[in-house]
Amino acid sequence: MAGGLKNKTALVTGASRGIGRAIALQLASEGALIAVHYGHSKAAAEDVLAAIKAAGGDGFLVQGDVGEMAGIEKLFHELDAALAERGIKGFDILVNNAGVGVFGDVTTTVEADFDKAFAINVKGVLFVTQYAVPRLRDGGRIINISSMVSHNAYPDFIAYAASKAAVDSITLSLAAGLGSRKITVNAVAPGATATDFIGDLEEPFMNAIKDGTALGEIGRPEDIANVVSFLASDAGGWVTGERIRASGGMHL
Ligand SMILES: NC(=O)c1ccc[n+]([C@@H]2O[C@H](COP(=O)([O-])OP(=O)(O)OC[C@H]3O[C@@H](n4cnc5c(N)ncnc54)[C@H](OP(=O)(O)O)[C@@H]3O)[C@@H](O)[C@H]2O)c1
Repeated sequence: MAGGLKNKTALVTGASRGIGRAIALQLASEGALIAVHYGHSKAAAEDVLAAIKAAGGDGFLVQGDVGEMAGIEKLFHELDAALAERGIKGFDILVNNAGVGVFGDVTTTVEADFDKAFAINVKGVLFVTQYAVPRLRDGGRIINISSMVSHNAYPDFIAYAASKAAVDSITLSLAAGLGSRKITVNAVAPGATATDFIGDLEEPFMNAIKDGTALGEIGRPEDIANVVSFLASDAGGWVTGERIRASGGMHL
């Protein structure tokens, strides 16, 4: 699909590491100008931008903590300035990828972790999108990174799972609300994917995850980026309001 996103601009939140990094590189390889967003990992984000440019793509950095309104405002202030510098008005693709995991069951979850998960994973998605909507061109794309945990029981991640269920709900409301502008809104729900997010799991735990998937593997960030790429493409234009599982077949 090289060149399929030529003349498009994409904002990828949490593009400094993991799945967001792979999404940024993938969309850039298809010709999109990428706003590489990061929260705290500046050096990692600079590496992503360098990799995009080395492969013949283009982009720029934007920073902001998406768990706070001030951080979201800063992100869009930087986005507006970078686009104005290039003579570009508006953008086409928003990937709400930045997110955090918190551990804990109903007895051990602490308020601070609950608040963190909901601030970054839910408030961040809703208000980044609120700022994005007036800037998104008609026919644009919004892709929210959910998780397999949103539709399955994960007692040890109760707050995280609830935050991702909220992302699914927001996705549906946005899809209904933005359809008149031909903006599609979908969620991609990854299964276990090899990033800092799951860390270096003990082998028995890793094997248990693999055994629980039909394809018998842990996902790679690129596996998720490929699904995002389809939804961002012209070919994905008839898909909206969906939650697409990208898990190698977990919970079948
Ligand atoms: N890996 C998995 O198994 C898996 C499975 C299902 C769903 N997911 C979802 O996939 C998404 C990406 O996860 P990942 O595995 O790539 O995780 P990761 O490697 O830990 O990367 C997380 C990204 O989110 C950014 N981020 C986190 N908190 C932020 C904040 N407050 N403000 C701004 N940016 C923030 C980080 O940026 P900085 O480091 O620059 O702050 C980083 O770029 C998340 O939404 C996660 O819930 C992951």
